[in-house]
Amino acid sequence: MTQNSAAVDKKETVTLTDNSTGRTFELPLISGTVGPKVMDVRSFYGDTGYFTYDPGFTSTGSCESKITYIDGDEGVLLHRGYAIDDLAEHADFMEVSYLLLKGELPTSEQKKKFESDITRHTMVHEQINNFYRGFRRDAHPMAIMCGVVGALSAFYHDSLDIRDPHQRMIASYRLIAKIPTIAAWAYKYSIGQPFVYPKNELSYAENFLHMMFAVPCEEYKVNPVLASAMDKILILHADHEQNASTSTVRLAGSSGANPFACIAAGIASLWGPAHGGANEAVLNMLEQIGSKERIPEFIKRAKDKSDPFRLMGFGHRVYKNYDPRAKVMQRTCHEVLDELGVRDEPLLELAMELERIALEDPYFVEKKLYPNVDFYSGIIFRAMGIPTSMFTVLFAVARTVGWIAQWSEMIEDPAQKIGRPRQLYTGYTHRKFVPLHARG
Ligand code: SDX
Repeated sequence: MTQNSAAVDKKETVTLTDNSTGRTFELPLISGTVGPKVMDVRSFYGDTGYFTYDPGFTSTGSCESKITYIDGDEGVLLHRGYAIDDLAEHADFMEVSYLLLKGELPTSEQKKKFESDITRHTMVHEQINNFYRGFRRDAHPMAIMCGVVGALSAFYHDSLDIRDPHQRMIASYRLIAKIPTIAAWAYKYSIGQPFVYPKNELSYAENFLHMMFAVPCEEYKVNPVLASAMDKILILHADHEQNASTSTVRLAGSSGANPFACIAAGIASLWGPAHGGANEAVLNMLEQIGSKERIPEFIKRAKDKSDPFRLMGFGHRVYKNYDPRAKVMQRTCHEVLDELGVRDEPLLELAMELERIALEDPYFVEKKLYPNVDFYSGIIFRAMGIPTSMFTVLFAVARTVGWIAQWSEMIEDPAQKIGRPRQLYTGYTHRKFVPLHARG
């Protein structure tokens, strides 16, 4: 299937009739390569005097993109046309990063050059070291990520001009390369161990695990099975269309903010438990449930509108079928636990029983609530010795390349303009000011 730019099919329009005035409006329908057509409402306010209204953007396309396509009903996820299952099975994270950024899978030559470029940006300015000491040791590592990534713009002045394609590329490579170093150091800082520097002979995933778990006093050998599992998990989290954090990055970038600030904004948005923070919330939930006998009690709570409890790791704005990433994640979970010789991990047993019960429950079936990417990832991370507070950090490490690819696409889009939504105002109309002495 080839890709093309949006086809404004002049013949196809939607006619709207304003029954209060009898006016009719023709809205052009734009077709993409695949997926729902869009009604072009860019001139809607000018033509009608009305705003469209879509809090949460459940029916709104915010941009044109060629990077990722999701068919939520079929449970399909494509990156530049390649299925996530194929990429997770046959490619590695560097290949997928190249694909997301440049639109094609790399040749061996291109991959070698890309890996070498990324590897040579994995160190951070030595003064960045000092930022960590400003945090309490028990600071949530996502707080450190927001702070340190945002501060990168204070160090890399030669890659801040977003109008210069070369500077955009350098900033992109720096962010992809340095995010694992910054993340691993957030973990080391929290446990009072010295920072471990990247090693150029290691792969991206190996380097991350090495910086997380090596100590200066002895040689640390990265387990190849765990490195391969980590690489696969990075692929599964790399990009996902216009999710909340990607939309945050695009909106921040639309004002011309520098890429480091935009990625820091994406990290902040990802932190929420409804989004990337769900993997941490799943583990906390499983530990709260504690035993299979208590599952019905929590299923009941998840269905109770008066109870804020939600089944974390379940449901998705787009997927109304099984999240294809969750399937790969479940398989990887078994591989990692087998490799580590972890037999009947109670949390995995509990998660699988919870999934079985939920998928048979009419409430979840009717609302099409399935496990999403966050449901199993935490169990793998925990088995790898990664603390719960670092789970969303790992999500941010992987998603940085997706955020950067989407940010670059937006900057290069000639139709791009600053994002500035309007509103439905229901507050006071103008009223006379009452001076303090007259307010009783
Ligand atoms: C990620 O957007 C992305 O692509 C995100 C992501 C990515 O890669 O970037 O895929 C990563 O964020 C995955 C999602 C992780 N979040 C969670 O697992 C948290 C638990 N899930 C829910 O909070 C919820 O499902 C959302 C936030 C994921 C989606 O919420 P929506 O689309 O706004 O749906 P909704 O809240 O309107 O729910 C629809 C109905 C509601 O019931 P009604 O009001 O219609 O009666 O389903 C119910 C909800 O109450 N529902 C749940 C539920 N999720 C939705 N009920 C119980 N448990 C849940 N988990």
